[in-house]
Amino acid sequence: MDGSFKRTNMCGSFRIDDIGREAVINGWIQKRRNLGGLIFCDLRDRTGIVQVVFDENIPKELFERADGLRSEFVVGIKGEVRERQAKNPDIPTGEIEIFANDLVIYSKAETTPIYIKDDDNAEDNLRLKYRYLDLRKPSMQKNLTLRHKIAKLARDYFDEQGFIEVETPMLIKPTPEGARDYLVPSRISPGNFYALPQSPQMFKQLLMVSGIDRYFQIARCFRDEDLRADRQPEFTQIDLEMSFADMDDIIKIQEGFLKKLLKEIKGKDIKTPLPRLTYDEAMERYGSDKPDTRFGNELKKLNETVKNCSFDVFTKVLQKGGDVRGICIEKGGEHFSRKDIDKLTQAVKSYGASGLVWMKKSGEGITSSVNKFFSTNQLAEIADVFSAKEGDLILIVAENRSVTLDSLGFLRRYTAEAMGLLDDDKYELLWVTDFPLFEYDEEEKRFKAKHHPFTSPCSKDAEKLESHPQSVKAQAYDIVMNGVELGGGSIRIHDRSLQERMFRTLGISEEEAKSKFGFLVEAFKYGAPPHGGLAYGLDRLVMLMAKEKSIREVIAFPKNQAAQCMVSGAPSSADQRQLDELSIKINGEKKI
Ligand code: AMO
Repeated sequence: MDGSFKRTNMCGSFRIDDIGREAVINGWIQKRRNLGGLIFCDLRDRTGIVQVVFDENIPKELFERADGLRSEFVVGIKGEVRERQAKNPDIPTGEIEIFANDLVIYSKAETTPIYIKDDDNAEDNLRLKYRYLDLRKPSMQKNLTLRHKIAKLARDYFDEQGFIEVETPMLIKPTPEGARDYLVPSRISPGNFYALPQSPQMFKQLLMVSGIDRYFQIARCFRDEDLRADRQPEFTQIDLEMSFADMDDIIKIQEGFLKKLLKEIKGKDIKTPLPRLTYDEAMERYGSDKPDTRFGNELKKLNETVKNCSFDVFTKVLQKGGDVRGICIEKGGEHFSRKDIDKLTQAVKSYGASGLVWMKKSGEGITSSVNKFFSTNQLAEIADVFSAKEGDLILIVAENRSVTLDSLGFLRRYTAEAMGLLDDDKYELLWVTDFPLFEYDEEEKRFKAKHHPFTSPCSKDAEKLESHPQSVKAQAYDIVMNGVELGGGSIRIHDRSLQERMFRTLGISEEEAKSKFGFLVEAFKYGAPPHGGLAYGLDRLVMLMAKEKSIREVIAFPKNQAAQCMVSGAPSSADQRQLDELSIKINGEKKI
């Protein structure tokens, strides 16, 4: 690198007070314009953009070199900071420009396959293939910087609270988290496999047995599951565990973190303690265990109101023990046409609903898809349950409880988005508590742990572990922000006999328990403190703070929809030599 071009300032740092100073800047050419006697360039680095001017009165050779500059060339420029004639109020350096007197070209660049600007509209896979170029965009630089700030804030906060960061292994035995593992074959022990951790769960519990007392880690986790906007196969948790702490202690420390985060990153004051909803309440009111509480439109049960109606779809469902529930969308009557409602009806069918009943309240009364089955009074009674006003739209689903909740939970979110109710400048947080300890797996005809098998039942429910497992609540809690599950955790079982009962209810035999999690059960023989913890999804946290719709926008090199790394081409085939060393034979044809 040319020593005489040692950088004095970052491009985005210049202000009106810098006028008159000599500066050296380095960066990438955003664009260049030749106006005859003047050549203008915008130079970009991580901090922003500054305008550079080459005037025809500078040495001819230098002016010609400047004329040869093209987008994305990497250069060093020397010059004097001058006041700009035509100021640009849209950028922070818009009052000044650099009047260049020297230039070095470090590297030329071919035409890039994507434009280096935020609204380039490049197709996703192209963006991911040329991610190193995509990351040059100001919005992506901003996101990565924000991610760094949030990680630092977490480290500082938990350090202040007495947590110490401990790294846990990446090559482990499968964890009991429930998703599919990524397996890593062992060369030294042919035919055996490590798993990449789905989370540090068991190791952080071992650290409690070790007397670490308060552990945290910014930990990479791996889960082979289907991708969604808020799911990647490889993601990062802010993972925590505390000894001698109950749920309230853990929640209090987390609320301190969330308060600091929102204040420092967003300048927002949040009121703590945060609201808490039980799982049952969240489902009943919002049809979701991660309710978006930025808007109302809560679900209402209509069983009592419609029980004597002559619409036999409703009465039959009620006779079978099902439910009739609905939501009311303020001013939705005009917003959603018949055609839109047809689309919504199709959408709820994928949740198991057989149909959707709609009602619109207008100046002339109530119109609905079922007018002929209801008297005017009955329709008015339904509207009253929602305190519906003129212009409102009511949507009703009749099915078994879980289908009505899931369908309406979906409709509530979907219609709110369509109506523009999801204000991304609002941050609404709440805890969801009292989750069921088990969920019944219809396919396998057995109970599974909803969280993981070390989650403690609520003490009042422990006696029902064998007799009524379905009604046992867990000492588990999720933190929810704007309808996103930001994190989750639980108080763990530290009592061996309770753990054994838990395994029995889950149908896990003694041998299986020994082979899968024997090391943890063994450790608990030697003095385990009561403990509990929680993990945040760091990617989701940054996504919300950055107001992005997908965690891909806040991960430097994410996987695409097919779990591929478009930059490096992973996953790819392995050499025969590598496979032989690992004693692996590929069976059948490879799918590409
Ligand atoms: P859980 O499985 O709920 O708990 O994960 C904690 C948080 O991690 C985030 N998360 C993900 N983020 C991106 N992509 C994924 N595939 C993904 N899966 C999960 C979510 C989630 O809330 N060991 C327990 C925590 C504990 O009990 O302490 C655990 O991993 O934000």
